[in-house]
Amino acid sequence: MTTFWSTYISVLTIGSLIGLTWLLLATRKGQSNNTTDETMGHSFDGIEEYDNPLPKWWFWLFVGTLAFSVGYLILYPGLGNWKGILPGYENGWTGANEWQKEMDKADARFGPIFAKYAAMPVEEVAKDPQALKMGSRLFASNCSVCHGSDAKGAFGFPNLTDNDWRWGGDPETIKTSIMSGRHGVMPAWAEVIGDQGVADVAAFVVSKLDGRTLPEGAKADVENGQKIFAANCVACHGPEGKGTPAMGAPNLTHPQAFIYGSSFAQLQQTIRYGRQGQMPAQAEIQGNDKVHLLAAYVYSLSQDGSAEAVTAK
Ligand code: HEC
Ligand code: HEC
Repeated sequence: MTTFWSTYISVLTIGSLIGLTWLLLATRKGQSNNTTDETMGHSFDGIEEYDNPLPKWWFWLFVGTLAFSVGYLILYPGLGNWKGILPGYENGWTGANEWQKEMDKADARFGPIFAKYAAMPVEEVAKDPQALKMGSRLFASNCSVCHGSDAKGAFGFPNLTDNDWRWGGDPETIKTSIMSGRHGVMPAWAEVIGDQGVADVAAFVVSKLDGRTLPEGAKADVENGQKIFAANCVACHGPEGKGTPAMGAPNLTHPQAFIYGSSFAQLQQTIRYGRQGQMPAQAEIQGNDKVHLLAAYVYSLSQDGSAEAVTAK
């Protein structure tokens, strides 16, 4: 704060305190201590005012608040650039400072624990109950908004507990996904293959890749869809539609792994307009050591054997 504003605020605050004290004492002066029937002599629309003293409790409450403000302003930052005489407010009081202080305290306390785990391979960390607990807390506060508190994903956000990985499920790849973020780019096909082409290739995905039956009355030519797939989709999704992790192109043979819906209609929507899933990078926000714990936690979710059951459905 510049000296001008600091002085301005201090003068205004101290002035108000002095003014209020004066007002309080001045109005009290000369009043009798007893209640009377005498009025002040003025009348507003027939309403008159008794010339009674200020109630004692009210008077002392007022004195109390004045004393409190003076004490507060001496102890804590409040008057312009005055830092208060209590230690710990050398940088003034701001929410950001308080938050930073909490963070520094937490880092001092947990930093060595994080560092210990960061030096171990992710697989090892994933077997440590204390590490998994810490990882699950970090997950709850940073990841569950998108991936869900059970990490099972939601529309547009992948399930992290199964073995269907878009970018890869080995510990290092999971860590890279979290550290650097991911951006899946599925192009829009409406202009290239037309609406009928979209329906045909979606029908091919449903019936041939997923082995499901098409909804009744679906107007689509699966064979033409297969040709479109071979010409346009294999570059990313692979010749058998099993995906290319390096591009984040998902496996199209597991209907339960689709994050944008697996119905014939939803697939057409995805193929027609394309999709752009964004996983935000955590390197700057969490730092390496926390991401290491998060990676271990995420890795552990698909390692308990129940993941196979999910994909085998
Ligand atoms: C340039 C590479 C590329 C090509 C070519 C491509 N895709 Fe994709 N596709 C992707 C990526 C990457 C994603 C994931 C998008 C995301 O995560 O938001 C994706 C997602 C999808 C999905 C949604 C999966 C889900 O999880 O819901 C479907 C369905 C799909 N592609 C079908 C096709 C079909 C059919 C074609 C051919 C007409 C095709 N793709 C061509 C890269 C490609
Ligand atoms: C703003 C929403 C959002 C948040 C927050 C978020 N994610 Fe993601 N995450 C996504 C999306 C969307 C994808 C899929 C990206 C794509 O389309 O390829 C993803 C993908 C991933 C993947 C790769 C999955 C795969 O199949 O390869 C991992 C691992 C992951 N997230 C972990 C995390 C962790 C751990 C956190 C918390 C630190 C987190 N995410 C926070 C949206 C989010």
